[in-house]
Amino acid sequence: MTSFRIAVIPGDGIGPEVTASTCDVLRAVAGSSGHEFLFTEVKAGGIAIDTQGEPLPEETLRIARESDAVLLGAVGGPKWDNLPGTMRPEAALLGLRKGLGLYANLRLAVLFPELKSASPLRPDLVAEGVDVLIVRELTGGIYFGKRGLEKSDECLEDGTPKGMEAFDIETYSEAEIERILRVGFRSAMQRRKHVTVVDKANILETSRLWRKVAERVKADYPEVTMEFMYVDNASMQLLRRPRSFDVIITSNMFGDILSDEAGMITGSIGMLPSASLGAPGTPGMYEPVHGSAPDIAGKGIANPMATILSAAMMLRYSLGLQEEGEKIEKAVRSVLSQGYRTADIVQDPDEPVLGTEEITGKVIEAYEKL
Ligand code: IPM
Ligand code: MG
Repeated sequence: MTSFRIAVIPGDGIGPEVTASTCDVLRAVAGSSGHEFLFTEVKAGGIAIDTQGEPLPEETLRIARESDAVLLGAVGGPKWDNLPGTMRPEAALLGLRKGLGLYANLRLAVLFPELKSASPLRPDLVAEGVDVLIVRELTGGIYFGKRGLEKSDECLEDGTPKGMEAFDIETYSEAEIERILRVGFRSAMQRRKHVTVVDKANILETSRLWRKVAERVKADYPEVTMEFMYVDNASMQLLRRPRSFDVIITSNMFGDILSDEAGMITGSIGMLPSASLGAPGTPGMYEPVHGSAPDIAGKGIANPMATILSAAMMLRYSLGLQEEGEKIEKAVRSVLSQGYRTADIVQDPDEPVLGTEEITGKVIEAYEKL
């Protein structure tokens, strides 16, 4: 028997509901696999601001660091929207990413065959399914660059004083670019062996450095085909021919934007998991792609499946429990194919709509039958 320490950060909005469900699923995994999960719940985000006066208390980061993996619900909500940047709930996410060195963010956009009609794209574009992995750089670029706000003494061409002026700087080093590219190429080797490096190399110096490093890394992966694509074009091609993408590797900011777009193509953002990984042997962080959904928080209707699938990624990537991870994924598919739905993914008015706890029960039932 192995014991795994899991730091659980429920966070805000529907975060507590979906993480509670996921811990129930993990308890069922423990029960049938003989492993043990030791959960330590800690606070981050709005709830930490309210109770401890800061978005990411030191204790949270320490416990996350000492764990084998971190399971996060979601952070943020309108209540904290007017706080200054470093005091907003989102600062907790950035602090966790930087503090745990989580430089690689893997976001899957998969169209589940059972939910095909949820896609807002024309049926012929998605008939054969969609399966895109976005590998987003997570601890560099404009998110972590130098920023500032100052009074400008200059004027526009017509003499209007500029007033205040703000800047955010995008910086990338070769080493940072290389390690994220390698994560992307290695992932492609497990998939359909095609990578699209998305950038804005017609404008940005950082993007031109990405291309140079990519050519070099590509030489180590002769089986993988690589193309470069400007981000504006990529956002268009994702809608036009989503099936032509396998792995997209891109910077922090472009990955943030494209992963929402790719998620929407599947029509079921409530189903999409993510993993954030650092150096081998350090804890990864696992969270659903959807946010805190404050409008439905506390109602017991949130879809826990993205968090449950994030836990499946956790078993695979951080805990070495491939078989159990796969079983969770199968259990979720089985629940969908039996026609069970949460409110966000209902398509047919006759489908039974289950609440968070009920659908979690169905997942556990399906898991135990596998
Ligand atoms: C995400 C979110 C975050 C980001 C926000 C909440 C800071 O949009 O994880 O995609 O921009 O990275
Ligand atoms: Mg985002």
